[in-house]
Amino acid sequence: MKLPLLEDLGDVRGRNVLLRADFNVPMSGADDARVISDDFRIRAALPTINWLTERGAKVVCVSHLGRPKGRPTTKYSMGPVRDRLAELAPGVELRENLRFSPGEEGNDPAFVTELIRGMDLYVNDAFGAAHRAHASVVGPPQFLPSAAGRLIEREVAVLDRMRTSPKRPFVAVLGGAKVSDKLGVIEALVGVVDRLLIGGGMCFTFLAAKGHSIGDSLCERDQVDHCKRLLQQHPSIMLPEDIIGLDADGVYATFGTHLPAGAKGLDIGPGSAAAFGDAIMDARSVFWNGPMGVFEDARFAKGTRTVAQAMADTKAFTVVGGGDSAAALAQFGLENDVDHVSTGGGASLEFLEFGDLPGLEALRKAPHVS
Ligand code: 3PG
Repeated sequence: MKLPLLEDLGDVRGRNVLLRADFNVPMSGADDARVISDDFRIRAALPTINWLTERGAKVVCVSHLGRPKGRPTTKYSMGPVRDRLAELAPGVELRENLRFSPGEEGNDPAFVTELIRGMDLYVNDAFGAAHRAHASVVGPPQFLPSAAGRLIEREVAVLDRMRTSPKRPFVAVLGGAKVSDKLGVIEALVGVVDRLLIGGGMCFTFLAAKGHSIGDSLCERDQVDHCKRLLQQHPSIMLPEDIIGLDADGVYATFGTHLPAGAKGLDIGPGSAAAFGDAIMDARSVFWNGPMGVFEDARFAKGTRTVAQAMADTKAFTVVGGGDSAAALAQFGLENDVDHVSTGGGASLEFLEFGDLPGLEALRKAPHVS
């Protein structure tokens, strides 16, 4: 996949560069006193920002933050991000939250015109938003010479390699609550990987599809037939064989794959965690997205911790899709022990599924520097 890169922008000295970043960082605290809990995504944009400013460009950043749905709210103001950016990259401008305008998500041409006014060049480094066909992602490259920033360049190189020429055995580990969010990527990966390990809330729909009783565990009944088909067609799918959770009286318990009435599965059990860990240790490429259980609660964190530790220990090339699995890695202090932590949760899954994203396609079609 050949994307235009920063070098293709020619001489950037004195040029006004519109930089679409993904500064959608986790925040906590009261609405009018929000504090950034993790500035990973701001730091991830620095190689691109520094490349541009060191060469004399004037950089104007734009980003979304949260989902304010077209209306300005204090809670989603860029203020705290702007303060942090000023510490990390002094002199770089950051405009207010793109999603305060309905034109952003509506991909309104008038909003695109507003965005590019006075700008000479466009750089997209918002990998986490590259799967959204929003105004700031697909609009400016229709008009301005454009390039992918360093973050997008690296994300695409890593994920493309994993998708098209992974070292084998290639193992994917998928978790998280909802199977319906992941069916697309499961369909895409199941034909490519040597083993697909499924944990998290979504494993119960698969266990139900195998005919196991799952008590009160999460289950998407309308997906059971689809899961049944997947299991019949793909023996490479591996499900947990024991489960940790709460029994009908709310007491912590370990179960096999048949959960009694009223019981709720909240983590994969120790036997399954060990089996998943072994599969990761034996692999040469591993992609992991989604926790194995409710890891925010220490009682149900062991499965996710075992997978995270195996990701850190294996000699395989390891990639972690953003979102909750990246947060879990950070919670266990292992974020520097894997090869690549993607800044995009949804974007990395969609890239693995389709091999392209609207934001990347827009860059490839952009006008060249004359
Ligand atoms: C993310 O957090 O995955 C990206 O910033 C995209 O955010 P969105 O899902 O609200 O579009």
